[in-house]
Amino acid sequence: MECSWKTVLLLVCASLGVQYTAIRTLRDSLSRPCNGAYHCQIRQPRDSRWRAMCDDSWLQVDSSQKHILLFATTRSGSSFTGQLLNQHSGIFYVFEPLYHVQQAFTNSSSRLRRTLDRRALLGAYRDLLLNLYTCDLGFMENYIRPEPQEHITGSFFRRSSSHALCSPPVCPEDNDGMDGGLPDETWCPKRCGALNLTLASLSCLSKGHVAIKTVRVPEVADLRTLTEDPRLDLKIIHLVRDPRAILTSRMMAFSDQFRAWKIWNTTGRQPRYVDLSQITSTCKDMAASAETGLRRPVWLRGRYLLVRYEDLAFNPEDKAGEIYRFVGLEMEDRVRLWIAHNTNSNTSEWNYRYSTTRDSRATAESWRLRLGFDIVRTLQSLCNETLALLGYKQVHSVAELRNLSYSLVETRTFQPPL
Ligand SMILES: *[C@@H]1O[C@H](CO)[C@@H](O)[C@H](O)[C@H]1NC(C)=O
Ligand SMILES: *[C@@H]1O[C@H](CO)[C@@H](O)[C@H](O)[C@H]1NC(C)=O
Ligand SMILES: *[C@@H]1O[C@H](CO)[C@@H](O)[C@H](O)[C@H]1NC(C)=O
Ligand SMILES: *[C@@H]1O[C@H](CO)[C@@H](O)[C@H](O)[C@H]1NC(C)=O
Ligand SMILES: *[C@@H]1O[C@H](CO)[C@@H](O)[C@H](O)[C@H]1NC(C)=O
Repeated sequence: MECSWKTVLLLVCASLGVQYTAIRTLRDSLSRPCNGAYHCQIRQPRDSRWRAMCDDSWLQVDSSQKHILLFATTRSGSSFTGQLLNQHSGIFYVFEPLYHVQQAFTNSSSRLRRTLDRRALLGAYRDLLLNLYTCDLGFMENYIRPEPQEHITGSFFRRSSSHALCSPPVCPEDNDGMDGGLPDETWCPKRCGALNLTLASLSCLSKGHVAIKTVRVPEVADLRTLTEDPRLDLKIIHLVRDPRAILTSRMMAFSDQFRAWKIWNTTGRQPRYVDLSQITSTCKDMAASAETGLRRPVWLRGRYLLVRYEDLAFNPEDKAGEIYRFVGLEMEDRVRLWIAHNTNSNTSEWNYRYSTTRDSRATAESWRLRLGFDIVRTLQSLCNETLALLGYKQVHSVAELRNLSYSLVETRTFQPPL
């Protein structure tokens, strides 16, 4: 039913006379699941007449459908937090789709790169998010390299991090027990083969809710047009973490890029060529977003939840419950089970490389034993406003830094008053 009226709408759109491209769009859409109508406006943004015609029909939002954005920064615990959403059977979860946009822009010719400003990249990010929330996975084809053939790709970034992309209908049922209860990452690429994006769109439509994780959008204000879009009911989970922990985690994960920091960490002396700009902007962006969110502007009201990774790590089940209440979904037992398996080293049998964290509490604090005091002191002065705003205490001596009985996380409630 719903499918056919969308097709009718599409035919009406097509007959309006945007000839060649329109017919192409129509043909493309008809060979795909019934999300064709979105193509009317999103594929033809330059034709305002066309756009206006199609827009009205989309003012009817399916209010039961949730559009969730896990808005985070690199090494802030977003893989772990994303799993809390990925485990839900009604959520179609996508792990960092904006990677492909960034790659496509970064690898463009230098002439294009010079003219490409921040606004254009953010616009492309938002376009992709909107299309994914409306289950048009085909839109990704504009960015995936090498270009998918017949809607098939083997290059979908971190495909195995999306449970939906490793299960039926996208991937055949596991009949020979190959999965053995192991995490998707260990068997998905081998067993599921290349990804059929048409099937992925169908899977997305059948799940009902879409959750996307990204670390590539700098500030929550960059998402404003999406929160105001009548086609979406966006819920933003802003994940923050102690910047001292973020830096430590980046140093461990990307040791090549952080060679100067490693030298600093070992010698206790700051090399002149160390780059402070990345962590400084991480702090600035994190604080700016939190300030915006907590100020509760009209465009964010009811759509913003600030979550400190440390609170989640210390109390995963309660915090996960809070997240699920915020997005308006039931927290399933599957999610509880995943938490139980992945947050306490004593009960964890999943000692594998892809484990997001085996003992979340220990992981959240481990930076305090791994970061030289001199770096800590510098970071505290660079990020002092951010630390204060988010409730992270500064340390004033090595003894204080290494004493894990002394907590650096102040008790805070960020839920803005209603
Ligand atoms: C972009 O270029 C880098 C370096 O040449 C390469 O490693 C990467 O695979 C390219 N990405 C895409 C999406 O083509
Ligand atoms: C991808 O899935 C669609 C929908 O089931 C199907 O029609 C199409 O043939 C598949 N593509 C390939 C290349 O298998
Ligand atoms: C910093 O140095 C200490 C030893 O001096 C080491 O244990 C720790 O892992 C280093 N931290 C990082 C982030 O590399
Ligand atoms: C952060 O440091 C600056 C410069 O030292 C200072 O002016 C400011 O008051 C500090 N802010 C907080 C919240 O401590
Ligand atoms: C560590 O911190 C706790 C709590 O603040 C304090 O009681 C204890 O004396 C500290 N230990 C050392 C060795 O400083």
